Amino acid sequence: MSPSTPFNVIYIGAGTINFGGPVQPWNHSIRIEKKLGSRLNVVGIVDIYPQAAHKVIAKKREEKVGGYEETLVFESIQDAGIVLQGDKVPHLAVIGTHPWTRGSTKPGSDAEIQLVAAWPKIGMHIEKPLSSSSVEEVMKVVQKLEEAGTVTSVGYMLSGKRDEEDHRRKQPYYHGDRCEVFDGIEIPIGEDDCYLNELSALIDVIDGIASRDVIQSPYEDAVKSYKLTWDIRLQGEATERARGIIHPPLDASS
Ligand SMILES: NC(=O)c1ccc[n+]([C@@H]2O[C@H](COP(=O)([O-])OP(=O)(O)OC[C@H]3O[C@@H](n4cnc5c(N)ncnc54)[C@H](O)[C@@H]3O)[C@@H](O)[C@H]2O)c1
Repeated sequence: MSPSTPFNVIYIGAGTINFGGPVQPWNHSIRIEKKLGSRLNVVGIVDIYPQAAHKVIAKKREEKVGGYEETLVFESIQDAGIVLQGDKVPHLAVIGTHPWTRGSTKPGSDAEIQLVAAWPKIGMHIEKPLSSSSVEEVMKVVQKLEEAGTVTSVGYMLSGKRDEEDHRRKQPYYHGDRCEVFDGIEIPIGEDDCYLNELSALIDVIDGIASRDVIQSPYEDAVKSYKLTWDIRLQGEATERARGIIHPPLDASS
């Protein structure tokens, strides 16, 4: 896609992570507006509570933010897929719903699969945690996304240089309007906004002006962290069971 053409975005979830709330810095929409400027065309917002989507659209229009003039509201990805075709096909979906809506092949928890079914070439930003399903289920989603060639980025929002300092890189921690990118090193968000950087890299790849390795946390990498957290939990619980501490039965197959 040419970087001069309209860039269609669909948000899945009209809540805090996508549209902001009382606590900074979560708000993907303001970063995407900054990155795309006049190219932005928010073609749809999907939310099971459509009034939440109508509310954020009304606020953007009231604030005269560009890109929301034609935004439609849908209660499901399937409904959006029927309507948003031709020049309304989204280039990017931003999945900001709860973990149980994604990272699985099971209906209702299969947002990524529904998105690819509706728009096979769509790119995705997916919030963390990746899922609440088993690692086996998430691996099936990895396979489906790889088969589709989907460009993905997961919201770990890593920051810092990608060279010899990689080993020091950490999850950024925010203090008011400042972002701690390395232990003890803080910078104003405006100077190196980790959220903007991640979304910007993803959009550049979708635009075809950057290679996939600029995305610091693609889905197939993020799934390794997901697996690790499950391994730690299961091992911890096994150890406690061996000591006679009983846990409620775990359904790791869901
Ligand atoms: N807000 C944060 O600080 C934050 C930080 C990191 C990660 N996250 C991730 O983002 C997710 C969402 O967080 P939030 O704070 O925006 O929550 P939120 O409750 O403010 O918003 C979630 C929205 O998703 C909608 N929704 C729920 N199920 C849906 C479905 N199946 N289809 C369409 N819409 C659906 C809800 O109606 C709601 O409007 C979290 O669960 C987490 O995975 C949030």
